[in-house]
Amino acid sequence: MIFAANWKLNKTQKQAQEFFSVFLQSNLLTESLKNKNELIFFPQALLSEQISNIFNQFLKKNTSLKKEYLSWGLQNIFYNNQGAFTGENSALTMKEMGGSFSLIGHSERRTLFNETNKDASKKIKAAQDLNLVPILCFGESLELRQSGEYKKFILNQLSQSLDCTDTSKRIILAYEPIWAIGTGKQASDQDITEIGSLIKEQYPKLELLYGGSVKPSNVKSIVSQKNIDGVLVGGASLDHNMFLELISV
Ligand code: 13P
Repeated sequence: MIFAANWKLNKTQKQAQEFFSVFLQSNLLTESLKNKNELIFFPQALLSEQISNIFNQFLKKNTSLKKEYLSWGLQNIFYNNQGAFTGENSALTMKEMGGSFSLIGHSERRTLFNETNKDASKKIKAAQDLNLVPILCFGESLELRQSGEYKKFILNQLSQSLDCTDTSKRIILAYEPIWAIGTGKQASDQDITEIGSLIKEQYPKLELLYGGSVKPSNVKSIVSQKNIDGVLVGGASLDHNMFLELISV
C-alpha cells in the first residue's frame, strides 16, 4: 500500500525536524515499512536537502529496512531541467539530491496557477525521462459532480495528461475530487469504487491512489476498496501521531 504525504506549503525546517525526530523513532513506522508499505513525503521544495539527509541517516542506521519504501519527492516540477525559468523547480536537481517522485497537476496547481493538462503531460514526460515516478493528480469540481458530467471530464483529463506517457515506466494516478480536499468530506466508498473501476478499466496497469480528507478514522475503508493502491494525504500527514496511526492500518 502507498501512503503519500503532501505537506503543501506547511512546516518550517524546525517543524520538519520535530516531526521526523518523533516519526522515525516509532515502532509503528518500522512495522509499516516491514509490511512493505511505501511511504512518500512531499515537503515544500526548500526542505528537500534536509529531508534527504534525515532519510539517508535513518536508512543507514536501519539497514534491514528497504530504501525504496521511504522516499520523497517534489510537489511540482518544471518540464525543463534548466534555463531561464525564474522560480521553477528542477527535477534534475531533485534527482541529484535523492528525490524520486513528483506530484503533477495537483488541483491547487491547476486552480491557483492555471496549470493545464498539456502542462501535466510535459511534466510527466520530463519526470519519466529522468526515471522519476510521476504521480498525476486528477479529479472533478463539485459543479461537475453535480452536473453528472464528471466521468467524461475525468477521462478527458487523463487522456490529455497521459498522451506522451511511457506506460512501460512506473506512473501513479491520484484521484482527488476537489470537493473532498481539505473539506473534511471524503468521497464515499461508492464514489471511490465507481471511479476506481472506471480508471482500472481504462488504465489497468497503473496504480491508483485516493486523496481528499483521508484521516485515521476513514483510511481503513478507503484502502480496502478494490482498485485502490494507496492514499495521498494532506492535513492528516502534518501531525506525526495522526500519520503514524494512518500508516498502521
Ligand atoms: P486533505 O487530506 O487535507 O484533504 O488534502 C488532500 C490533498 O490535496 C492531498 O494532495
